[in-house]
Amino acid sequence: MSHSSEPRPMTARRSGPLRGTAHIPGDKSISHRALILGALSVGETRITGLLEGEDVLDTAKAMEAFGAQVTRLGDGEWSVYGVGVGGFSEPESVIDCGNSGTGVRLIMGAMATTPITATFTGDASLSRRPMARVTDPLELFGAQITAREGGRLPITIQGAADPLPVRYRTPVASAQIKSAILLAGLNVPGETVVIEPEPTRDHSERMLAGFGADIRAETTEEGHVITLQGRPELRAQPVAVPRDPSSAAFPVAAALIVPGSEIRVPGVSRNPTRDGLYVTLLEMGADIVFENPREEGGEPVADLLVRHGALKGVVVPAERAASMIDEFPILSVIAAFAEGTTVMNGVAELRVKESDRIDAMARGLEANGVKIEETKDSMTVHGMGRVPGGGRAVTHLDHRIAMSFLVLGLASEAPVSIDDGAPIATSFPDFLPLMQGLGGDLG
Ligand code: S3P
Repeated sequence: MSHSSEPRPMTARRSGPLRGTAHIPGDKSISHRALILGALSVGETRITGLLEGEDVLDTAKAMEAFGAQVTRLGDGEWSVYGVGVGGFSEPESVIDCGNSGTGVRLIMGAMATTPITATFTGDASLSRRPMARVTDPLELFGAQITAREGGRLPITIQGAADPLPVRYRTPVASAQIKSAILLAGLNVPGETVVIEPEPTRDHSERMLAGFGADIRAETTEEGHVITLQGRPELRAQPVAVPRDPSSAAFPVAAALIVPGSEIRVPGVSRNPTRDGLYVTLLEMGADIVFENPREEGGEPVADLLVRHGALKGVVVPAERAASMIDEFPILSVIAAFAEGTTVMNGVAELRVKESDRIDAMARGLEANGVKIEETKDSMTVHGMGRVPGGGRAVTHLDHRIAMSFLVLGLASEAPVSIDDGAPIATSFPDFLPLMQGLGGDLG
């Protein structure tokens, strides 16, 4: 996968109006979960619209290593014959999750309450990221865990033979921590409870209910409380993966900042736990129309019609951060083309993503003539309605940093280059041809 590929420098240049229809790939979060829940179910789960990015392909390989039968039937169409809750077998070799925090954290959860041992590794970016946030609660179930210094990968987990149910308050709002605990809770007698400070993306809850688990969520004075009844028999389900709103954000952003643009982006998920960027863009005055709202694969979706227009700076409240956590890099690019200041609050988690995204965006935007300030948990971009460009950004094995700076270059006065676009394949393998098809000058 990308872990072994050579760096691929890329450049984006000022482009004419973007026009056409952008068919976005399947949602990354839902794709990982479809494979994992399929592997934990009895019978055949047929998946359509699966994201065939490197992150998800690594999860598919991992599910095979734990004993599921995973077959690619066609474009985005996959079949998973699962082994049932508690049915994972011990993998013969190390599980390499590549660049994917979601993959490794969810799979560690899924195996931690089965009496088998597995070792997990990943690329240089993943090996720098904190894992104790997941391994700490997994130890409470009774799993025995050995990690490298600082709780980092590689990590070996000896799954609990007699797991105990856990009630756990997550220290940060993170769907990956929540999901790891819920997946571990599947093979435990009794109720597993997760309390999160703010609601995070709820795909695990929706999909677990769809596969037949008894799971409920409520907001109490303690926080957002999710309760799962252990040892369900998960029944294989067809899963139609909706298109990824986080990937859609890149062509949407490009259309908003390149003068004269008008694009359509059909079938994008509008799950309220993922919708923060779109809420923010409307506040900035963006011309986005949500057409044909409907339900697909258990998720609300709509067709987006996006046109270029004037934008103004806004303050993004900290409570909204969880619902747009992956969209701050591209929002900081859009904000540079707005008139006035955009403040993004409550974004400390950006420092532990595929890269330190606050630092990566600040350095790259500065190199392209944009004024940006950072604190440990905020970013402020001073929009001038135009961006000089002409700089080079360092992407630190981070797909969203790479795509953000390429979008920047489509509307800045001088070209913008990046040191490495190879990681784009982790989440959006057809990003370049898709953007070129809309009229973008990049490659
Ligand atoms: C994800 C959760 C988020 C997000 C990531 C996908 C998921 O991570 O940034 O891209 O699928 O659960 P955190 O849980 O670390 O916030």
